[in-house]
Amino acid sequence: MLERILIKNTLNQTGEKVKIAGRVGARRDHGKLAFIDLIDCSGILQVVLKEAEDLRLNDVIAIEGIINKRPENMINKEIETGGIEMQAEKIEILNKADTTPFELNTDGHEVNEEIRLKYRYLDLRRNRLQKNFKIRHQITRFIRNFLSERDFTEIETPLLTKSTPEGARDYVVPSRLQPGKFYALPQSPQQYKQLLMVAGFEKYFQIAKCFRDEDTRGDRQPEFTQLDMEMSFVGQEEVMKLNEELVIETIKNVYPDKKFLQLPFPRISYKEAMEKYGTDRPDLRKDKNNQNELAFCWVVDFPFFEKDKGLNPDGSPKWTFTHNPFSAAAPGWHEKLMKKKDIEKIIAAQYDIVLNGFEIGGGSIRNHKPEALKKVLEIIGLKEKDIEENFGHMLKALAFGAPPHGGIAFGLDRFIAILQNEPNIREVIAFPKTGDGRDLMMNAPSEITKEQLKELGQL
Ligand code: AMO
Repeated sequence: MLERILIKNTLNQTGEKVKIAGRVGARRDHGKLAFIDLIDCSGILQVVLKEAEDLRLNDVIAIEGIINKRPENMINKEIETGGIEMQAEKIEILNKADTTPFELNTDGHEVNEEIRLKYRYLDLRRNRLQKNFKIRHQITRFIRNFLSERDFTEIETPLLTKSTPEGARDYVVPSRLQPGKFYALPQSPQQYKQLLMVAGFEKYFQIAKCFRDEDTRGDRQPEFTQLDMEMSFVGQEEVMKLNEELVIETIKNVYPDKKFLQLPFPRISYKEAMEKYGTDRPDLRKDKNNQNELAFCWVVDFPFFEKDKGLNPDGSPKWTFTHNPFSAAAPGWHEKLMKKKDIEKIIAAQYDIVLNGFEIGGGSIRNHKPEALKKVLEIIGLKEKDIEENFGHMLKALAFGAPPHGGIAFGLDRFIAILQNEPNIREVIAFPKTGDGRDLMMNAPSEITKEQLKELGQL
């Protein structure tokens, strides 16, 4: 009994008898001979069949046969195994396949998106998507190693949690055991990662699922992934320096052909970005058609607060935070924050990282003292009762000797989509949602039974 080997390992097996398995990717009949392409997760191999077998596209088969060199004039330089082929001796059909609703050997851009998503498991078979996910894996593996070597601990945080104000609507989950109460799915692990700093971990990261009920577009999904990070005893400079190094090293390793427009990454103040480019995520590329040019920049010195709609009952303006209520004021602005003076001028210790005109990440140094966080919450108009109800746990935790800390989160899907020159983050998410938040393959969201609703106290 031969053991199955991967197609990529047939390269050094010329003259040997081996067994491979996979699906039929193409079939060409030449009189008495038939050629098929067999595809497995590692590659593609031409197989010569002696007689016309009843094999159809996508049938799953195992084949034993001899690996031969191809004649000089038959070599295919386009594929890795183009210099060899297998002469089949024994074929076992493991499963027959129905005709697929669309072609799988194209890049898929020509196929209706809804049909692609409905049959996503077939769509994912195409080369372009296989490559996207293999690269995605290389990137996350590199990041994990990079951070692990620098003493970071990867820690998972809950998905059933309490609403966090990250600026979007929450997805909520009704509780069966606490009728009438709801969990919220996290918009980010923001509060948990700060609590991990209080817990003494000092360097945390997580490749974390985040949920935001907002209108979906090309660079937004209701469910997306962040590379999330937090560190103790650091200032803005250290967080930016480490993350710039992480980004550069990742790209040099995974994409040796990519060119950085400028190193170190230029830093632009929010004010300058708005004045010069009219946006806080400027696209600094010189040639926007060049697929390998990467224009990174940091955008810094964001205003902490902006005026919200309406006025307070006493006629004073209403304020809201521009990024994150947990941020600290930039050095030099702390006194103003504590005195609630010149609110519109206060600068936050906040930094965004922008790539080719997309915000791929953002973070800040946090208020590690409870009285400072409380001031922010007061400025955005929360009453004592709301503060206690929504942020009491954070204020309490900070009071138990929280170290100074700060961090960042990257939108991993966005980062990878740009690096892969994909126009939409759906192309780098295995099972994405449509623009209106549906999973066409699983048919979600869907109705649930009356019994389920009753059990959840919803009827
Ligand atoms: P922020 O809200 O800026 O920060 O999110 C960080 C990054 O996540 C990406 N992102 C998204 N990607 C896909 N779909 C979405 N709907 C979506 N929303 C955001 C963006 C963004 O830059 N807790 C803070 C981080 C911190 O301060 O450490 C946070 O979540 O690329």
